Amino acid sequence: MSSADVHDIDLKAFKNDPYPILKYFRKNSPIAYVPQLNATLFSKHQDIFICEKNVEIFSSVQPDGLMTKLMGQNMMRKDGDAHITERKAIFPTVSPKTVKNFWKNQFVEKTNKIINNIGNKRELELVSEFSTQVSAEALKLITGLSGMTWMEMDRVSQGMIDGCSNYIGDPAVAKNCDDCTRSIDLHIDAQLKHPNLHDSPSLLSSQLDAGLSMETIKANIKLAISGGQNEPRDAIAGTIGTLLNNDSQLKMIKSGSKSWLQAFEEYARWMSPIGMSPRRIAKDFNYKEVHFYKNDMIFFMFGSANRDEEIFQNPDHFDISRDNRSSISFGAGPHFCAGAWISKTLIAEVALPLFFSNFSNVQLKKTLEFEGWAFRGPKKVILENWDK
Ligand code: HEM
Repeated sequence: MSSADVHDIDLKAFKNDPYPILKYFRKNSPIAYVPQLNATLFSKHQDIFICEKNVEIFSSVQPDGLMTKLMGQNMMRKDGDAHITERKAIFPTVSPKTVKNFWKNQFVEKTNKIINNIGNKRELELVSEFSTQVSAEALKLITGLSGMTWMEMDRVSQGMIDGCSNYIGDPAVAKNCDDCTRSIDLHIDAQLKHPNLHDSPSLLSSQLDAGLSMETIKANIKLAISGGQNEPRDAIAGTIGTLLNNDSQLKMIKSGSKSWLQAFEEYARWMSPIGMSPRRIAKDFNYKEVHFYKNDMIFFMFGSANRDEEIFQNPDHFDISRDNRSSISFGAGPHFCAGAWISKTLIAEVALPLFFSNFSNVQLKKTLEFEGWAFRGPKKVILENWDK
């Protein structure tokens, strides 16, 4: 355990709304040990920005971590050359060029289908009836697991997320996580026999082309599923709900003076879908008068950095007009989100514009509520006055 000041937190309150607690940390104890999380939290933008790049100390390799044990050692749990090799291997899947020339049209086709299936409902719950499907259909394309249903994609993603945060060792959660990883393995095995395997630049196809081992390929596909389903799901529903709550800002986009991308990027700053990324201290180290010991766990709190008063004016306010180039919603180091370009295109060029052009007369029926601190998103987004 590091020598940082010790601060207890109420985990329930933290899950409900981490921002007041993180604000307190930024002001009073920017590097704080939190017993309830058994980790030292970095809450200031500058510290995260500097330390995340120092991979000699702040290592991603966590052999005893739940993610490695349950999903295999994926690229998010590797440093240096081992990590770079795998990032290069998946570049043909996630590059801006592939997203523009290959994935975008398919995202449009899938999203239009989902919108048409919604029909003439008077009331719609956005997370379960729209954004979950949009996100899962995109992920089926990107991973290459076309045989999976969108419901199964969402189920296995959530099952792995739950498994990776199962610190109390609940056997039911562990069993369900095993079932989810097994389902993914079976889908990969089935896809390997598919004659059209190499017809798309999917994660499966790109990694096979690069000659990665099957163990690594499977681990990285599980990573993309655990990290690529709920963020777009939450960001699509959250941005739509938040814009409906801020009508004047929605009007600016509709009139063309602001863009859907500005709305998504501001949402991702303001309600960071991934609030933290963990690291392990590789060797004893001092930083800002705090002593860290080998194997201490560190949490880089991206959600807190994105509301740092020294970087953003009036940071608790959602404002699509602000300059948010300094936000680190996708990370700030070598593990910068591999799916960033995919997400920007799927959310800002496809899901948001198609949704609002098809449903121009919707309103929020209930107040928006968010939950989560490591992953954060809207609980439900209920809309009414359906005029499609
Ligand atoms: C709103 C959407 C998304 C957000 C906000 C987001 C955010 C993040 C963050 C914060 C990280 C960790 C960065 C770090 O520790 O420095 C990450 C890593 C990653 N994300 Fe995303 N993500 C999103 C969507 C996606 C999607 C759709 C995919 C699917 C391909 C994806 C794949 C990955 C991968 C593979 C990594 C690990 C990269 C590495 O280890 O080099 N993400 N993401």
